[in-house]
Amino acid sequence: SLINRLFNASQAEIKLAKKLKIARAIIVPGDADLQERVSILMGEKLNSALDLLLPLGSSIITVLGGATLAKASKVLSSSLSKNRDLEFVPGRGALGESVETQSSTIVQEMAKATGGKYKTLYLPENVSKDAYRSLIRDPAISDVLQDISQCDVAIHGIGLAEDMAKRRGYDSVALSRIRATGAVSECFGCFFDENGKMIERIPRIGLQFEDLSKIPHIFAFAGGHSKAKAISSYMHNAPSQTWLITDEGASDLILKGQ
Ligand code: F6P
Repeated sequence: SLINRLFNASQAEIKLAKKLKIARAIIVPGDADLQERVSILMGEKLNSALDLLLPLGSSIITVLGGATLAKASKVLSSSLSKNRDLEFVPGRGALGESVETQSSTIVQEMAKATGGKYKTLYLPENVSKDAYRSLIRDPAISDVLQDISQCDVAIHGIGLAEDMAKRRGYDSVALSRIRATGAVSECFGCFFDENGKMIERIPRIGLQFEDLSKIPHIFAFAGGHSKAKAISSYMHNAPSQTWLITDEGASDLILKGQ
């Protein structure tokens, strides 16, 4: 395809994208679980992909949280902002998560690295229906939600179900439920099993999984052998325009069918 030729895709990258039924896979050498520099390499690929795909003029980029994206955020370059007006917005309000991996922190890093703008969204992760209804009427919050709904790009991580459930403060009962139902991955507050079936979700404010399909460019950002099963699990649901940026540690296992 044009996308593969434009980016000089390797045979493994073509195979992986085909297997996961997504637009493009980019595989960097190494294993992010074992080598710190691998997430940096992935970040550089994200930078080149954004440079290739983003139109000139203004773009809104919605960014989700996570340790992998946090490591790569500083690698984006100021050349991305040449003839472009970039605005980074957090995909959700993630209070409760450690400050380094919150999306509001990552958008600030990305804006700093590229010379772009950013907005923040500081909200509890888990809100009741009533609280949700009043929060989204707040002007500062609705302003960010408006930008999210008009974004051109989404960048997200893919988490391991159990790790993410712990990070989101699940108690031991909820944790055993997650294990018993066979949840493998977490993304956008949704837990999926190995066949990609959604098992449960955390109600939250921000980008909803269902809104993804309308976003022109989507980057999934996850590497390391420990993420292989989670990547396969989530990718059953990924919109076809998704680009996966990963490493050999994950892709070798996915291609072997694990
Ligand atoms: O918090 C946002 C998020 O994209 C989650 O949906 C995902 O599970 C997680 O980040 C991945 O985080 P990490 O890179 O730390 O494993």
